[in-house]
Amino acid sequence: MSIERNLTGNHAKQIAGEYAAHLVNDGDIVGLGTGSTTAYAIKELGQMIKTDFKILGVPTSHQSRFLAIECGIPLTSLDEHPLLDISIDGSDQVDKKLNVIKGGGGAHMLEKIIAQSSKRYVIVVDDEKLTDHLNYSVAVEVLPIALSFVRERLKIIGGKPVLRSAVRKDGPVITDHGNFIVDVDFGVIDFPEKLEVELSCCTGVMEHGIFSFVNEVYVGTKNGKIEVLRR
Ligand code: A5P
Repeated sequence: MSIERNLTGNHAKQIAGEYAAHLVNDGDIVGLGTGSTTAYAIKELGQMIKTDFKILGVPTSHQSRFLAIECGIPLTSLDEHPLLDISIDGSDQVDKKLNVIKGGGGAHMLEKIIAQSSKRYVIVVDDEKLTDHLNYSVAVEVLPIALSFVRERLKIIGGKPVLRSAVRKDGPVITDHGNFIVDVDFGVIDFPEKLEVELSCCTGVMEHGIFSFVNEVYVGTKNGKIEVLRR
C-alpha cells in the first residue's frame, strides 16, 4: 500500500514518524520508541496534544523520556499501565518478512518489553532500512560480569562480537540499565528466528536486537510517500 503524505519537509524519516503519530487514538497509552525516526513521532504527538487530544506516553529510554517531557507529553509507566494501546518504534534494518534488527541506540531491551506489552506495535523507518536479508550487526545487551563468557558464546554461534565503545573511545557504552552492549556481526542472517532463540538462550545476555514478531512497518520514502508493509 502506498499513501501520499503532504508534509512541509520531505525527509523520509520525518514522513514515517509523523505519519505513525496519527495512528494514535485519543486516550491511548503510547509506547515511545528511541531514535531519530521515532523522535519525529514524539514531536508530532507533542503537537497533537496541544488540542484536546489526550495521551499518556511510556518512554523506552532516557532519550525518549527527555524528548517527551520537552514536547509536553504526560508520562506514565509499565507499573501503572502494563498493557499499552500502541507503540511506535524505529529500526536499524527490516527484511522482506518483517524481521527487524534494533538496538543501534542501545535501547532495545526496554523497547522489546514495551513492544511485547503493546496491543499494536508499529515500526517506522526510511526506505534505506529495507533489505532482502538481514545483515546489520546485532546489538546484544550483556551483564558486565558475564562479558568474556558471552563473547565466547557469541563466537561459537558464528558471530564476531565487538564491545561498543563510548564516543571518546575511553570506555564501553553503558546502557540505561547499567549493562554493556556488544555489536555482533553474523554476516547474512538466513534464519533470524533461529538466531533469536540462540541469543535468548545465552546466559548473561540481557536482551538482543532481533525482533521477529513485527507485523506492521511504515516506510517513509524520499519522494514523500508512505509504504505500509504488513506480515
Ligand atoms: C534504539 O536502540 C534503536 O532500536 C533505534 O530504534 C534504531 O536504531 C533506529 O534509529 P533511527 O530511527 O535513529 O535510525
